[in-house]
Amino acid sequence: MKTHQYEVLIIGGGGAGLMAAIYASKGASTAVLSKLYPTRSHTGAAQGGVGAALGNAEEDRPDWHTYDTVKGSDYLGDQDAIKFMCDVAPEVVYELEHMGLPFSRNPDGTIAQRPFGGHTNNNTGKPVTRACYAADRTGHMILQTLYQQCVKNKVTFFDEYHVVDLITANGSAAGVIALELATGELHIFHGKTVIFATGGHGRVWEVTSNAYAYTGDGVAITLRRGIPAEDMEFFQFHPTGIYRMGILITEGVRGEGGVLLNNKGERFMDRYAPTVKDLASRDVVSRAMYLEMQDGLGINGNRYLYLDVTPETVNKYAALDGRTRPDGSAFRITAEEILSKLPDIIDFCHTYLGVDPVTQPMPVQPTAHYAMGGIPTNARTEVFIDEKDTIMPGLYAAGEVACVSVHGANRLGTNSLLDIVVFGKEAGLRAAEFSRGASFQPLPEDAADFSCEQFDRLRNGSGKEKAADIAKEMKEVMNDHVGVFRVEDGMAMALDKVRELKERYKEVRVGDQGDVYNTDLLNIWELSNLLDLAEVTAASALARKESRGAHARDDYQERDDKKWMKHTMAWLEDNEVELKYKPVTITDYKPKKRVY
Ligand code: FUM
Repeated sequence: MKTHQYEVLIIGGGGAGLMAAIYASKGASTAVLSKLYPTRSHTGAAQGGVGAALGNAEEDRPDWHTYDTVKGSDYLGDQDAIKFMCDVAPEVVYELEHMGLPFSRNPDGTIAQRPFGGHTNNNTGKPVTRACYAADRTGHMILQTLYQQCVKNKVTFFDEYHVVDLITANGSAAGVIALELATGELHIFHGKTVIFATGGHGRVWEVTSNAYAYTGDGVAITLRRGIPAEDMEFFQFHPTGIYRMGILITEGVRGEGGVLLNNKGERFMDRYAPTVKDLASRDVVSRAMYLEMQDGLGINGNRYLYLDVTPETVNKYAALDGRTRPDGSAFRITAEEILSKLPDIIDFCHTYLGVDPVTQPMPVQPTAHYAMGGIPTNARTEVFIDEKDTIMPGLYAAGEVACVSVHGANRLGTNSLLDIVVFGKEAGLRAAEFSRGASFQPLPEDAADFSCEQFDRLRNGSGKEKAADIAKEMKEVMNDHVGVFRVEDGMAMALDKVRELKERYKEVRVGDQGDVYNTDLLNIWELSNLLDLAEVTAASALARKESRGAHARDDYQERDDKKWMKHTMAWLEDNEVELKYKPVTITDYKPKKRVY
C-alpha cells in the first residue's frame, strides 16, 4: 500500500477545504483529497449570496448580523463563535473580492447586496440588504475563485481519492485512508493534522437540494472512531425546492420581491410572519408551507405551493408593503432585472419544469437543505471528543461537516457560504500553526486494517439485498417522520426502520467486482454513512422533547429553555446511540421568544 506524507491533510475540495488549503499551504506542506474534482463540489450549488454587513445599500452593522444569527438559531448557537463569524464577515468578503471573485455590482461599483430571510435592521425589524451576491451563482463563483487561488499557490490535489477512515495515534490525528477511484487501491496518507471539510448529508432525505455526493462521510468516519456528533436533530428544510426534484430555488427570489402563494392566490406569509413575511427564517417559512398544504391549500390539492417572481406580482406586493429602494424611491422590478439577477433559476425552471419564471409562478415545496449538526468544534475549528470540550490534537473540521456551533437550531440564509470561508480559513491557519510545533505520530501497524475489512465485507456480501431499495426506504421514512414536523411515534418508527435497514444492509453485495472506477462499491459504502447518520439524527430528535428551530414537534410545541437549552452530543456504538449534553455559550443575548 502506498504511503504519502504531508503536514496538513484536507479532506474535501469544496469552499471550506479550498479556503483551508490556501491558508495551510502558506505555512505547511498541504494536500487536498477530494472524492470529486473540486470544482464539482456542492459549494457550486449555493446561489443567493454570502452574508456580511457591508452596508453598501443601507445602514447595516456586524452586531445586527450577530443578533439575527443568534435569533435565527433559536438561541442554540454559541454566541462567542457567532460574533466572531459576523465580525470578520466584511473583511473576508473583501478578501474574496481581492482574489477576483466577480460579484454583481451597484452603479457606484461597490458589491451588490440583496435582502434575505431573517436579516433585519435591528432598529426597525424590517429586512436589510446584507447578502453579497454574484447573480444567483454566488457559490459557483466562490468555488472557482478559491480553486484558481489554490492552483496559483501550487496546492497539491489528490482528485477522486475517496477518504474512508481516520487514523489516530497516541490520541492524536495521524492521517487518513483513501480509496483511489481510478485503480481501486487503498492509500495511506500520513499527516501531522487532518481537516475534515466534507460537507453535509442531505441525501438522508427523499427530497433534497443536496448533491449526490452529500453523504455525510466526515461525520460517519469520525463517529466510527469514537468522536461524537453534535446537534444532529437539527436539519434545515429550505422552503423553496423545485416540486418533487428538490433542486434549490434561491431565497434570493424572495429577496428580489418574489412571494409565496397558496391555491387561493393568497400571500399566506402575512399571517405567519406579519413583519418580515416571505423573508422570515427558513424554519418558519417551511412550517407555514406545510400547514397551508395540510389545510388543503396546496396548488390544486397537490403538495406544492407557488413562488411568484413575475414583475406584476412583485410590484403589486411591493406597493402594498410600501417597499422602497434604499434611495427612498418606490420599489419596482422589471423583467430585464429578473433575467439579469436570477439567470440560473430561470434556466433551471425552463429545463426541469418548462416554466418561465418571468411570466409564470414556480411550483415549490420544502427541500432538505442543510445540516446544522456535525463534528463538534470550537471557533478555532479544533475538534471536541466529548461533552467536556476535550480537544483531539491535530484534528480540525470546517464548513457544513462541522458544528461550531454558529447555526444552532436553524441557519440563516447566506451564513453557510460565510461559514465555509471564515472557518475554512481558520482551519488552514490553525492546522499549519499546529504542524510547525508538532512531529509526525508513528503510524499504527494496523492503520489500514479496518478499511480493508470494510471493503472485503462489501465485496463478499450475500447479495440478498439491493442497496437502492434500502436507500429508498431510508429516505422515505426520514422525509415522512424526521422532516419538517415530528412526533414521538413517527420518530420512534423511523428509528426502528433505520435499524432494520442497517441489518438488511449487511446482506448487500456489490454488483461490480472490478477495481477501476468502481462507483457501485463507493455508493454502497456511502449508504452505510447515510444509515448511521439517519440513526443518530432520529435518536437525537426523539430525545429532544421541545420545538426549537428546525426541530418542530407537534407533541411538544413550545421551546423549553429550562430543560433543553443545551447541545446534544451523540455517540454511535454497536448500533446503540448514547446521548449526552453540554451547555450553550450565551454572552450578550439572553434567550427571548422569536417574533417575526
Ligand atoms: O436560497 C439560497 O440561495 C440558499 C442560500 C443558503 O443556503 O445560504
